[in-house]
Parts: sequence; structure tokens; C-alpha cells
Amino acid sequence: MAVKVCLAGATGWAGSELARSIGKSTDLSLVAAVSRKHAGQSLGEVLAESLLTCPIYQTAGEALANSCDVFVEYTKPESARANVLTALEHGAHVVIGTSGLIESDFAEIDVVAHRQQRGVLACGNFALTVILLQKFAEAAAKLIPQWEIIDYAHDDKIDAPSGTARELAARLSKVRQPQMTVPVDRIVGQPESRGATQSGSQVHSLRLPGYVISAEIVFGMPDQRLTIRHDSGNSARPYVDGALLAIRKVSTLVGLHRGLDAVLDL
Ligand SMILES: NC(=O)c1ccc[n+]([C@@H]2O[C@H](COP(=O)([O-])OP(=O)(O)OC[C@H]3O[C@@H](n4cnc5c(N)ncnc54)[C@H](OP(=O)(O)O)[C@@H]3O)[C@@H](O)[C@H]2O)c1
Repeated sequence: MAVKVCLAGATGWAGSELARSIGKSTDLSLVAAVSRKHAGQSLGEVLAESLLTCPIYQTAGEALANSCDVFVEYTKPESARANVLTALEHGAHVVIGTSGLIESDFAEIDVVAHRQQRGVLACGNFALTVILLQKFAEAAAKLIPQWEIIDYAHDDKIDAPSGTARELAARLSKVRQPQMTVPVDRIVGQPESRGATQSGSQVHSLRLPGYVISAEIVFGMPDQRLTIRHDSGNSARPYVDGALLAIRKVSTLVGLHRGLDAVLDL
């Protein structure tokens, strides 16, 4: 039986690419979509994709009146938390692609997911090269105690630091806390020029035209340095395969899990 999916943000840059791929999958079925501007239309009409026949709803609550196995959150940080909690209350497993949720949101989602005995898989970035950056950085952090993260994105990205940078910092905090030769509170001048402290790591966010999404981590040791960097191109294609894998596997989980490697054999 096909896994029934409800996709919030199905008309967006990332969500529409995912919707088209779900439409072509034989083991997944898109039963409802969410977009405020296109509510009342069919998704196939909006995306000019005849395989997609599901209706579009104004809110996640309305869309979830259709029974679904997995709810995918791909809207905006300001609507993501409420959508995810609504989906869990309706008994769906949840895949979160939206970036910008904060640690307290994730803590609340984890509590509700456990109460509902449902899985939530949150991936700030579904691209394979980002998953590898995370794994390589975790390995490096075991040996190198000092690092900083740089997050690059297009000038109109409203959340900062990016979900990718937050997720990387959170993962590295489980390996160890990075050392700082001069802690931020002892900086002379403007402490904010040392970036935002995110799960113990300093994160520097650039927002400029010309970038899509890039993430970089620099490890420093006396007389040596290691840089690991991911760059994405202009299409949303790199995020599709990871999101499809998350949709197929999230029902094997209970509670909140962050990062695609929760369902990957790496
Ligand atoms: N995890 C990953 O790999 C990955 C990859 C790419 C992007 N992202 C993240 O995914 C999110 C979406 O990015 P995007 O570039 O696709 O954005 P986008 O093109 O602006 O699309 C946003 C989508 O969400 C809908 N939406 C926005 N606010 C809503 C609300 N309050 N209620 C219901 N629907 C709402 C929009 O439709 P309406 O405006 O019609 O409501 C649209 O369908 C961002 O947080 C981005 O950082 C993550």
C-alpha cells in the first residue's frame, strides 16, 4: 500500500520539486497539499503536472482532515512549529524540511511525538553532500578542539543562522564543546563580530546575492587548518532524494530525530 503524504508548502521552490517526484513514485501517494495563495485549486493545476490530482488547502489543519501517514513541513519558520504539532495531534509521522525552528521548538515537538508514539525526522538540509559534511565534521571534531562555522545564503533568506548551520553546531556539541582561546565575553571591541554562539559553536551568516546555500566549517590547529565545505546550485533537486528517503523511513522512528543519517547506514 502506498504511503499517504500531506505536503505543506507544496507550491514552493523546494516543495514543488518534491511534489513532482512524489507524483512519479509508485509507493507514495500525495493526498493533500497546503498553500494559502492556491487554496481551493488542485496541485496538478498549479504545478502544470497532470499526475498530481490532490486538493490544496489553506491550513495544515484542513489538509489533515484527509487521513495521511506522513506530513511533510516545507513552509516557513513562522508556521512550521504549529503545523508539525497539528500533524502529530492528527496521528501523522512528520518530516521537517523547513529551517528556522529553534531548540525549544524541537524539545516541544519531541515531547508530543513521544506522547503520540510517532516519528519526526527534521533535516535542515536533505542534500547528500551536507550529510557527508556533517559526518566528516564530527570525525574532525573528535581530534581538533577548535572550529567555527560559516553559513552563506541568498540575500532574501529570512532565517539566520541557517538550519544547516544550526544542525551542524548541535551535532558537534554532542562530540565536544569547541575551545576558544579568547572567549566571546572577553572580546575587546564588538563581541557580535565574533558571530552567534549556536550550541557552543561560533556561526557567521553571510546573506548576499550570488549565493544559493553553502555551509563551511573551518577547524584550526597550530600551523594547520582543515576546511570542509558544501555548495548547492540553483535547483531544488539536491533536496528531493533525501526528502523521499525521510518520508519512506520516518514511520520506523519514535520521537524527534535530527539529520538524515538517523535513517541512513553511514
Ligand atoms: N531541508 C532542506 O533540505 C531544505 C531545502 C530547501 C529549503 N529548505 C527550507 O524550506 C523552507 C521553504 O523554502 P522554499 O524556498 O521552498 O520557500 P518558498 O518557495 O517561499 O515556499 C514556501 C511554501 O510554503 C507555503 N507557505 C508559506 N507560509 C505558509 C503558511 N503560513 N501556511 C501555509 N503555507 C505556507 C507557500 O505557499 P503560500 O505562500 O501560498 O502559502 C509555499 O508553498 C525554508 O525554511 C527553507 O529554508 C530546506
